[in-house]
Amino acid sequence: MVSWLLLAISTISIFSDVTTASASDQCLGTDQRSLLLGLRNSLVFDASESSKLLQWDQSADSWSGVTCKDGLVVGLDLSEESISGGIDYSSNLFRLEFLRSLNLAFNNFNSLAIPSGLANLSRLAHLNLSNAGFTGHIPVELSRLTKLRTLDLSWTWLKLEKPNLRSLIRDLGELRELYLDGVNVFAEGSDWCDTLSSSVPKLEVLSMSYCSLSGPINTSLMSLANLSVIQLDGNDLSTTVPSFLSNFSSLKTLSLWGAGLYGEFPHEIFSTNTSNP
Ligand SMILES: *[C@@H]1O[C@H](CO)[C@@H](O)[C@H](O)[C@H]1NC(C)=O
Ligand SMILES: *[C@@H]1O[C@H](CO)[C@@H](O)[C@H](O)[C@H]1NC(C)=O
Ligand SMILES: *[C@@H]1O[C@H](CO)[C@@H](O)[C@H](O)[C@H]1NC(C)=O
Ligand SMILES: *[C@@H]1O[C@H](CO)[C@@H](O)[C@H](O)[C@H]1NC(C)=O
Ligand SMILES: *[C@@H]1O[C@H](CO)[C@@H](O)[C@H](O)[C@H]1NC(C)=O
Repeated sequence: MVSWLLLAISTISIFSDVTTASASDQCLGTDQRSLLLGLRNSLVFDASESSKLLQWDQSADSWSGVTCKDGLVVGLDLSEESISGGIDYSSNLFRLEFLRSLNLAFNNFNSLAIPSGLANLSRLAHLNLSNAGFTGHIPVELSRLTKLRTLDLSWTWLKLEKPNLRSLIRDLGELRELYLDGVNVFAEGSDWCDTLSSSVPKLEVLSMSYCSLSGPINTSLMSLANLSVIQLDGNDLSTTVPSFLSNFSSLKTLSLWGAGLYGEFPHEIFSTNTSNP
């Protein structure tokens, strides 16, 4: 059993390319402001738990959770706002077409499906629905978000069957970070390795713990040369730890706890320059 976690990957700011300060009136165009207010009014959320939405106001000069650039909303972080609904097909959210980053993590969308209108946000580079409470199948429409660099659907207990992993990520060739922990991935054998290596060549972070993956880990994974994080805990890989894992020259975190691995841990892996950054 391998329990080995070198952590502390420097947190890559998802807003690195846009203003980090929360948006002020001056930055937001009038139409964008009314879209936001319309969105706020349609959302179902627990006001006593909200720290951002509650502050949005036509007269306010600070829009908490909103990032803007040239008058346009380019980032929206509504994580941990106790939102439980109110995003239907006609939601203003899908009219914020300049969004590059959307975070709805840690909300309470209990048993609602991920809204397919997200596909309208074609400029999205970062989508975070971690722990948002969505359930059911991952909508195939997400596969049209071809500019995605970060996709976090972790701990949502979603199903990835129709579409399957391949049809979801086939066109997401820009992906750098993929978090699907806890998603039930219906993949046969080591198909998932082949799918990843042929679809997302630029991948740096692969986090698929508790995904019901089976093994063995196929060497095709080696073509993802820039992988720096591999987390596959809680799967049933039923194999020995493949020594080719030591060939990843950028690997910093390897976590395979309870992944159904047996045999000796290949000493080559320790001898690579896996430094703790
Ligand atoms: C998608 O965006 C277009 C253009 O901004 C808008 O007209 C349309 O209503 C949006 N669709 C949805 C589902 O919100
Ligand atoms: C998603 O959002 C949550 C809450 O803000 C955060 O903890 C997590 O690191 C984010 N995921 C990514 C990939 O940035
Ligand atoms: C891997 O990373 C290097 C250095 O950042 C970069 O030049 C190269 O293009 C990346 N390879 C892929 C396949 O993205
Ligand atoms: C790895 O994948 C290749 C191509 O998909 C296949 O030919 C090979 O048999 C696989 N190896 C194992 C050990 O499953
Ligand atoms: C890993 O590196 C070793 C030594 O450089 C090499 O012999 C082996 O073929 C490589 N394995 C893969 C799967 O690339």
